[in-house]
Amino acid sequence: MATKVIVQLPGERDYAVRIGSGVIGKLGQSLREIERFANARDVLVITDSNVAPLYLAQVKASLAAANFKAADITVPAGEGTKDIAVASEIWSAMAQLAFGRDCLVVALGGGVVGDLAGFVASTYMRGVPVVQVPTTLLAMVDSSVGGKTAVNLAEGKNLVGTFFQPSFVCADTDTLATLPEREWRCGCAEVAKSAVIDSDDFFFWMLEHAQAMAERDDAVAAEAIQRCVVFKAGVVARDKTESAGVRECLNYGHTLGHAIEACTGYGTFSHGAAVAEGMRFAVRLAADVLEESREAISEFAEAQADLLDTLGLAPLDYDATPEDLLTAMKRDKKTRGGEVRFVLARDIANWEIVPVSDEAILQALR
Ligand code: NAD
Ligand code: GLY
Repeated sequence: MATKVIVQLPGERDYAVRIGSGVIGKLGQSLREIERFANARDVLVITDSNVAPLYLAQVKASLAAANFKAADITVPAGEGTKDIAVASEIWSAMAQLAFGRDCLVVALGGGVVGDLAGFVASTYMRGVPVVQVPTTLLAMVDSSVGGKTAVNLAEGKNLVGTFFQPSFVCADTDTLATLPEREWRCGCAEVAKSAVIDSDDFFFWMLEHAQAMAERDDAVAAEAIQRCVVFKAGVVARDKTESAGVRECLNYGHTLGHAIEACTGYGTFSHGAAVAEGMRFAVRLAADVLEESREAISEFAEAQADLLDTLGLAPLDYDATPEDLLTAMKRDKKTRGGEVRFVLARDIANWEIVPVSDEAILQALR
């Protein structure tokens, strides 16, 4: 069974996120039902070297059945592909194919392909539509919705990019069957983040179903994805460009998480494992710096730890000094005036952005 979430953003066309088993098979048909694609012809499917052998043929068959003419480009799997040189190769390929402004780009893969393809589409001929077909849990619950696109620089991740909303998102939960366990748990961290920030309803539902989620139960995963998409759509509707102090909540756990990834070497721990550790740290910091009884925060800390543990996101044993972590955090895009800003939660769905002094961060890290 498939469900549909509509993302409604000010100043943008509405778009649908279709979630369910087998929805890739109806991708072409779903696109034809969108008015602006009624007469579209040229499609470029961008995918990666792991996903291509698994799902590219299915996607192309669905597009062909709906009379689209689809070309494809397969990029190497991995974060290194989010690079301006790769984007440039794709722009050139599109120009050589004589793709005009009436073409569309389909991003088939995880967040790496989604961010890269979104960036390419947002800039080719000043913008052609992009359709996201996420195949990782992380991409289904987070990166395929909301329109952030990016490539990396040697100086840091995601430093060049655009806000460019997709025209349609097609999240086929069947594709999750081939996802490696490490990537599953990575996505579970973003699910836990969304549940903590969203509401008691989502958090306690997730806690009740965390074991089933860890065991990759299809029905539970589909509902978790849907809840995350509804949550993210609501956040992005209030703050599309992360300028109104709302969208930053999606970075809960990410400030320390990114620093752990940078200090231990990208890939040592999955992004999600680092974010989960960042969520645990954020609660310790909240107990130190927020005006809230430690007792109330410790009850919340226990519930959050219970959720993370059950999802298979154990506390991390990592090797990095507090000073190095602090230096890495200061390179974070959210740092202002030299002070690191954290998303701190005192309870479920009760968070704020707090600039925290170096001393308080170092003390909590120690
Ligand atoms: P990823 O795209 O690298 O995918 C993880 C791995 O899984 C890759 O090796 C990929 O080839 C493989 N894979 C993908 N789907 C598969 C499937 N169904 N079966 C088997 N293997 C599969 O990583 P990710 O975790 O999906 O995304 C991480 C990226 O997303 C980062 O670059 C991050 O910056 C970005 N991101 C963007 C946003 C946003 O809002 N735009 C949000 C969060 C993360
Ligand atoms: N994943 C963070 C955001 O979309 O803002």
